Amino acid sequence: MQRVYGVAIKKGGQGKSTTVTTLARLCALYGARVLMVDLAQPGSVSTAMRDSWPTSNHGGLSELLEPFTQLQPHDLPHPDDVLAGLEALHLPVPLIAKPSWSGGMMHLLPYDEGLGAITRHLQSPFIIDGILRSMDSAFDLILVDFPAEDGILLDNALVATDRILVPFIAEASSLEGIDATLRLLRRGREANARATLGGIVLTHCEPRNKRIGDIVNTLMHSGEVEGEDIKERMFPFAIRQSDFYDHAFRYGEPVWERTQDQRVWSGYVLLAEWLLADAGLERFIANRRHAALLDDDTRVMDTAAVAAGTGTGEARLHDFRTVHYPALTANP
Ligand SMILES: Nc1ncnc2c1ncn2[C@@H]1O[C@H](COP(=O)(O)OP(=O)(O)OP(=O)(O)O)[C@@H](O)[C@H]1O
Ligand SMILES: [Mg+2]
Repeated sequence: MQRVYGVAIKKGGQGKSTTVTTLARLCALYGARVLMVDLAQPGSVSTAMRDSWPTSNHGGLSELLEPFTQLQPHDLPHPDDVLAGLEALHLPVPLIAKPSWSGGMMHLLPYDEGLGAITRHLQSPFIIDGILRSMDSAFDLILVDFPAEDGILLDNALVATDRILVPFIAEASSLEGIDATLRLLRRGREANARATLGGIVLTHCEPRNKRIGDIVNTLMHSGEVEGEDIKERMFPFAIRQSDFYDHAFRYGEPVWERTQDQRVWSGYVLLAEWLLADAGLERFIANRRHAALLDDDTRVMDTAAVAAGTGTGEARLHDFRTVHYPALTANP
């Protein structure tokens, strides 16, 4: 079963960290136990969760990794050593639960400043995988914010991941980022990594911007890239462009605390439900509540309509679900 989801694109600023934190927050609202792993400089996932940050002391990921710098390239960390390290450093950090999560929870392996220096000494690509495996029964879902740079930390992230989600902004330069990410995935497969492509999701989508439609159209017609059928792998919904994402990041809060306009995060609700279903956690989907419970009339960006440049590029949530996700249509 899929449990570890990596959010990755080999191009900066495409909404990776926003995708990790928004999905984690939503999945916790549905009642899932979620772990976030922040491997991306400068630790935006950790910063974006300030509203739930506990006052208790804890160590950093770099301290957890430090003893494993001794391991040779083919070595796996011993589970007892991993558990001892986690316990000594009070990791992962339990985020302060909100009443709206009702049963869900979020933990975080936070980014820290020492990570860059430590990873220069890591030799084994199996360490993060070993760490996540040692927490096997504690979490329903694990979301990893992938490092941007090539190197042993990226190799570790890839080895630990079941599925990759690729967020992108519709700009010509992002297409190269998608290609490079799919190349990375293919190289991983050739080296026996188990990670597969979960899907490609358009972010920062602005319905009035015709240029976006052109680029999405180009992407949809690019056929097979590195063994992936791009059109098949594009999510049918997109994430709307909204300045409230920046506000939310600045305040360390979820975007729905900054605006009541459900269109802003409706794409992420659909992505969270796709994720829960893909991870075999369909049972949670019936628990739509708080920000995850949207009005049927809420608009959602429709990737195919954006690409076609027809109308507003939007659809009614209920109609969209009926067409694309009939199994997920019923609200409880
Ligand atoms: N849908 C959106 N609409 C508008 N702004 C957004 C949206 N999603 C994210 N942002 C903003 O865009 C910027 C980049 O997003 P984010 O930090 O999530 O990207 P990233 O891929 O993690 O970037 P980096 O490569 O720097 O790690 C941030 O300022 C964020 O607040
Ligand atoms: Mg980031």
